[in-house]
Amino acid sequence: MMSSRNKITISTLRARKREGQKITMLTCYDYATARLMEEAQIDSLLVGDTYAEVCLGHPTTLPATMEHMVTVAEAVRRGAPTAYLVGDMPFLSYQVCPEEGIRNAGLFMAKAGCDCVKVEVDRRLVKTVEAMTAAAIPVMAHLGLKPQSIQSLGGYRVQGKQASAALRIIEDAKMMEDAGAVALLVEAVPKEVAAQITESTALPVIGCVSGPHCDGQVVVLHDMLGFGGGHPPRSVKQYARLHEQLLEAFQAYAKDVGEGAFPVAKESAAMDPAQLKELRRALEKRAP
Ligand code: KIV
Repeated sequence: MMSSRNKITISTLRARKREGQKITMLTCYDYATARLMEEAQIDSLLVGDTYAEVCLGHPTTLPATMEHMVTVAEAVRRGAPTAYLVGDMPFLSYQVCPEEGIRNAGLFMAKAGCDCVKVEVDRRLVKTVEAMTAAAIPVMAHLGLKPQSIQSLGGYRVQGKQASAALRIIEDAKMMEDAGAVALLVEAVPKEVAAQITESTALPVIGCVSGPHCDGQVVVLHDMLGFGGGHPPRSVKQYARLHEQLLEAFQAYAKDVGEGAFPVAKESAAMDPAQLKELRRALEKRAP
């Protein structure tokens, strides 16, 4: 498949913001879906650690590992050569120390061909973002609801509803920009907070259930496809009803196989009549 667009880079995303054109981003976890997203000209693909939830069936993102994430990112890159590819740094791949963060981020960049890595941060991780930036690793800073902190947060809920908490997130965003982040992602913050962050930075700001004012939007693939499995169920607009459609397909297949309606003769390979005759003769000779 030849792509009909130029490679999407951070300059493309910055230009989109300047020109007021929205940026499209979806999570992606496999080659075939990446090919479709490339064909649909989705700007950016996030290999999210939600992989652990929607593909592996875990209740949180915490079990995602670097090995999983890099393998998936490699496949997604093969399917979407021109998309802006973001590798999501899994739990404990960057929180222990900046050096580990750099080494792990390097795998996304060098092995999978990612364009940047995403880290869930607040002001306490400024040094990590600075260190990665100094190591030529472009960082997308994920602010607001940070699902990797679910056990400390005590649940998935909107962050920054109180003025003081909102101010802290807005300040964190500025600190991330100063630390060298190339883009921001804000998850589950009130739309006013997302708007304030978006207006006050030149960085592209991608929103995830944070209202319409961000420079772009990201949603979890399975949620927007109505494919179930997502945990927690994020309330996003559904653009397909894959759960129902796939269930119907599986049930129809089971019925056909059960009733002998699949495969029919024309769906099966057949021997050349002369070869078949020869085979029968050979089998007869072998009969006791
Ligand atoms: O891992 C992920 O899919 C994410 C999105 C929810 C933004 O971080």
